[in-house]
Amino acid sequence: MKQKNRKMSMLLCLIVLVAVCSAFNGELAELECPDDCECHYFRVNWVTDCSESNLTEIPYNELSPNVYVLDMNSNLIKELKRFPSEIKLRRLQLADNLLTKITKDPFIGLNYLIDLDLSHNQIKTIDPDTFEEMRGLLTLELQENPLDPVDGPFLSSKSLTYLDISSCHIKYLNPHFFINLTALSTIDLSNNPLKAIDNEAFAPLTGLNSLNLNNCNLTFISPNAFMAQENLKKLELGGNMLVKFDFLAVFKNLIRLEYLDLRNSHVTDLPPNTFEYNTYLRTLILAENDLGYLDVSVTIGKHLHELDTLDLSFCNLQNLLSEDAFSNSTKVRVLNLSGNSLFASDLLVALAPLTNLKKLSLSNCGLSKLPDTFEKFKGLQELDISHNPLNDVFIKLLSPLEALEYLNMGYSNLSYISPTTFSKMTSMKRLVLSGNDLNSLEAGLFGGLTQLESLELNNCGLRRPLNATLFFNNLTYTGLKELQLAGNPLQVAKHGPLLPKQFSELLSLDLSYCNLSFLPPEAFFWTRNLTHLILAGNRFSSTEGLAFLELLPKLEVLDLRFNNLSRFSPKDIAVNSNIQKLKLIGNPWICDCSVADLWDWANLEKSNLGVLEGSMLNMEDVTVGKTKKKKLLLCSYDSKVPMPIIVNKTATGRRPFQNHRLLVSTNRTWAKYVRESGCDQKISPVRVPRSIKYVIDDKIVLKTETGPNTWIYPALYALSAYVAIMAVVAVIYLLNYKKKGFHYRDQTHKDS
Ligand SMILES: *[C@@H]1O[C@H](CO)[C@@H](O)[C@H](O)[C@H]1NC(C)=O
Ligand SMILES: *[C@@H]1O[C@H](CO)[C@@H](O)[C@H](O)[C@H]1NC(C)=O
Ligand SMILES: *[C@@H]1O[C@H](CO)[C@@H](O)[C@H](O)[C@H]1NC(C)=O
Ligand SMILES: *[C@@H]1O[C@H](CO)[C@@H](O)[C@H](O)[C@H]1NC(C)=O
Ligand SMILES: *[C@@H]1O[C@H](CO)[C@@H](O)[C@H](O)[C@H]1NC(C)=O
Ligand SMILES: *[C@@H]1O[C@H](CO)[C@@H](O)[C@H](O)[C@H]1NC(C)=O
Ligand SMILES: *[C@@H]1O[C@H](CO)[C@@H](O)[C@H](O)[C@H]1NC(C)=O
Ligand SMILES: *[C@@H]1O[C@H](CO)[C@@H](O)[C@H](O)[C@H]1NC(C)=O
Ligand SMILES: *[C@@H]1O[C@H](CO)[C@@H](O)[C@H](O)[C@H]1NC(C)=O
Ligand SMILES: *[C@@H]1O[C@H](CO)[C@@H](O)[C@H](O)[C@H]1NC(C)=O
Ligand SMILES: *[C@@H]1O[C@H](CO)[C@@H](O)[C@H](O)[C@H]1NC(C)=O
Ligand SMILES: *[C@@H]1O[C@H](CO)[C@@H](O)[C@H](O)[C@H]1NC(C)=O
Repeated sequence: MKQKNRKMSMLLCLIVLVAVCSAFNGELAELECPDDCECHYFRVNWVTDCSESNLTEIPYNELSPNVYVLDMNSNLIKELKRFPSEIKLRRLQLADNLLTKITKDPFIGLNYLIDLDLSHNQIKTIDPDTFEEMRGLLTLELQENPLDPVDGPFLSSKSLTYLDISSCHIKYLNPHFFINLTALSTIDLSNNPLKAIDNEAFAPLTGLNSLNLNNCNLTFISPNAFMAQENLKKLELGGNMLVKFDFLAVFKNLIRLEYLDLRNSHVTDLPPNTFEYNTYLRTLILAENDLGYLDVSVTIGKHLHELDTLDLSFCNLQNLLSEDAFSNSTKVRVLNLSGNSLFASDLLVALAPLTNLKKLSLSNCGLSKLPDTFEKFKGLQELDISHNPLNDVFIKLLSPLEALEYLNMGYSNLSYISPTTFSKMTSMKRLVLSGNDLNSLEAGLFGGLTQLESLELNNCGLRRPLNATLFFNNLTYTGLKELQLAGNPLQVAKHGPLLPKQFSELLSLDLSYCNLSFLPPEAFFWTRNLTHLILAGNRFSSTEGLAFLELLPKLEVLDLRFNNLSRFSPKDIAVNSNIQKLKLIGNPWICDCSVADLWDWANLEKSNLGVLEGSMLNMEDVTVGKTKKKKLLLCSYDSKVPMPIIVNKTATGRRPFQNHRLLVSTNRTWAKYVRESGCDQKISPVRVPRSIKYVIDDKIVLKTETGPNTWIYPALYALSAYVAIMAVVAVIYLLNYKKKGFHYRDQTHKDS
C-alpha cells in the first residue's frame, strides 16, 4: 500500500511539473493594453506604461482590470475621472502632468492602491478626505506642486507612512496639519519656505522616524516643536539659516537621534552642551558651516561617545586643529576634513589621538605635503587625498599604511610615483589614480598589489592601454576584476590584445569616452572572462567593428550608449549568449526591422524585454522619490524611405495604432515602432559563421570559423514537441489517477 502511495505522489509531482510547463510555456497570458501604451509583465505583475505619450486622458476603458502598475508620467493630463470599478491597481504614477486639483471621486474604488505619485504637477488643492478610505495606501508623493495654503488637517489617512511634500510652496504648517496622518514615519518637507516652526504641528507624529527639513529657510524652531519626537532617528536641517539658534532647546527631546545633518546652515556657534541629550548620535554632518571657532574636543568629544562618523568638510577649520581637538573623540572611525585648507604639520598633531580611524578624507585641502604620521594609522582602511596639489616626493610617506584597502589619489598633479610606495600595501583593493598625468609610470609600480580588485585610471591622458611592465610578470592578479580607463584618448593598434596577460581575471572594463572607432578582433585575447564592457561615448559607427565580441562568451552587460551606430541586430551578439543588459540609448538608430528583431530577441529569446535598456518600465523607474524622466530607446525613420504602410497583424504585440497622429513625427520609441512596423515576429536567425584571424605577437594564433550551435533550434522544437506529448500523457494519467484515487480513498474508508 505504502509503496503504491509513494509512487502515486511521485507521479503527481511529475504531472504537475509537466502540466505547468506545457500550460504556461514560460509565458503569462497577454492582458489588455491601451493603444498608446507599452505593456509587459514585471515578474507576475502587469505593467502598463503610457508615459511620455502626450495623452490628455487616462485610457480608462482600455485598461486591464489586473493592471498592477500604471505609469502615466509625463503626459498632458489635466483632470482625473473615476477608474473602472473592478480595477486592482497597486501603483499609480501621474508625475509630470497638468493636474491642478485633487478630489476624492476619481480615487473611489482604488482600494488596492499602495503607492501614488502625483509629483511635478500644478496641484493647488487636495481635498483632505481624498485618501481616507484607501486602507492600503503607504506612500504618497506630492513633491513639486504649488500647493495653496492649508488651514486645517492636510490629509486624512490611517495607513500612510511615507509623505513627500518637498518643493510645494508650503509657507506655514498649521497646528493641525498632520493631525489625521498619525501613521507617518517618513516626511520630506525640504525646499519649502517655512522660515519658522513655531507651533506643535509635529505633535501627533509620535512614530516619526525620519524628517527632512533641508533648505526651508528656517531661522527658528520652537523648543516645543519636537516634543513628541522621541523616536526620531534621522533629522536633516541642512541649507537653513540657523544663525542664533538654540540647538540645545530644540534637540533636547530627540533622545534617540542617530543621524543629524546640519550641512550648509550658517552655523557658527555650537556651544559645549549643544548635543548633551543626543547621546546616541552616530553620524554628525557639520559640513559647509563656518566653524573656525568650534571646540571639537568639548562640543563633540564630551557628549557624543557613540559618534562614529564626523563630517567637518568645508568648515573653514584652518585655525582649529589644535593638539587636543580630537583627544576626546577617539572612537570616531570615519572623519571627513575635506575642503579645509590644512597643513601637514597641523594634521600631524591633531590626528594623533584618532588611532581607531578607519576612513579619512583629506581631499581638497590644498596639501602639497603629507604629514609623516601614517605609521600611527596602521588600521586605516580608506584614505582620500584626492584634489590636492601634491608633490610627488611625499607620496612615499603613505607606505606604512599596510591595512589600506582604498586609496584615492585622483586629480593630485602626480606624475611620478615611487615604486616602493605601494610595496607593503598588500591589502589594497581599490586604487584611484584618475586625473593624473601618468604616462611615465615606473615599471613594477603595481607589482606588489596582489589583492587589487579595482584600478581606476580615468582621464590620465593615456594614449596606450596599460603596459605589462607595471605588473610583475611572474604573477597573475587573481583578484583584479575591474579596470577603468575612461576618458583616455587611446590610440589602438590594428592588431594585438589591448591588455596584458596579468588582467586575465578581469570582469569589468570601462573604456567609455576613449575616442575609439574600432578595436581589433583580438583586443580581449587575454581578458576573455569579461562580463561587463563599457564602450559608451566612443565613435563606433558600424557593427563590423564589433568583431571583438566573439572572444567574450561570458559577457553580461554591453554598454554602447552614445556612439554612432544606426543598426544593430541580434546576430552581432550571437556568441554572447549570457547578455543580461544591452545598453544602446543615444545612438542614431534607424527604424527598420532590425529594431524589431532586437525587440523579439529580448522578448522571446531572453524572455525579458528589460534586457534592452530603455525598452520598458523597469522597477528602478518606479521607486519612490527618484527622477521621473526615463531615457528611452528611440529610432527615426529614414527620410528617403516612404513611411510604412500600417498592416493589421494579429501577432501579440503587433497591433497597429488606431491613432495615427503619432506619425507626424519621424522619431519613435522602439516600443511604438515595433508595434506599427509590420515587421514579422520571429526568433533571431542563426548566426552566419564569421572567419576571424587573431594576431598575437605578430603570429596568427587562432582562427575561428565555427558557428554557434546550429542544432539548438531543432533541439528546442524537439523539446517542445516532447513536452506537448508528455502533457497529453500526463492528462491521461491524471484522469486515471483521479479515478483510482477516489477508489483508493473509498477503500481505506471501508478498511477503517
Ligand atoms: C509630444 O508633443 C511634443 C510637442 O508637441 C512633440 O515634440 C513630441 O514629439 C510629442 N511626443 C510624442 C510621443 O508624440
Ligand atoms: C481628523 O481628526 C480629528 C481629530 O482627531 C477628527 O475630529 C476629524 O474627524 C478627523 N478628520 C477626518 C477627515 O478624518
Ligand atoms: C530662501 O530664501 C532665499 C533668499 O531669501 C530665496 O532665494 C530662496 O528661494 C528661499 N528658499 C525657499 C525654499 O523658498
Ligand atoms: C575629555 O573627557 C574627559 C572625561 O571623559 C573630561 O574630563 C575632559 O574634560 C574632556 N576634555 C575636554 C577638552 O572636554
Ligand atoms: C567628505 O566630504 C565631501 C564634501 O562634503 C564629500 O564630497 C565626500 O563624499 C565626503 N567623504 C566621505 C568619505 O564621507
Ligand atoms: C604640478 O606639478 C608640477 C611639477 O610636476 C609643478 O610644476 C606644478 O606647479 C604643479 N601644479 C600645481 C597646481 O601645484
Ligand atoms: C612598455 O614599457 C617599456 C619600457 O618601460 C617599453 O619599452 C615598451 O615599449 C612599452 N610597451 C608599450 C606597449 O607601451
Ligand atoms: C616576481 O618578480 C618580482 C620582481 O620582478 C620579485 O620581486 C618577486 O619576488 C617575484 N615573485 C615571485 C613569486 O617569484
Ligand atoms: C580622436 O581620434 C581621431 C582620429 O581617430 C583624431 O583625429 C582625434 O584627434 C582624436 N581625438 C583626441 C581627443 O585624441
Ligand atoms: C578565466 O577564469 C577562469 C576561472 O577563474 C580562469 O581559469 C582563466 O584563467 C581566466 N582567464 C581566461 C583568459 O580564460
Ligand atoms: C486594419 O483594420 C481596420 C479595421 O479593423 C480596417 O479599417 C483597415 O482598413 C485595416 N488596414 C489594413 C491596412 O488592412
Ligand atoms: C529625433 O531624435 C533626434 C535625436 O535622437 C533629435 O536630434 C531630433 O531632433 C528628433 N527629431 C524630432 C522631429 O523630434
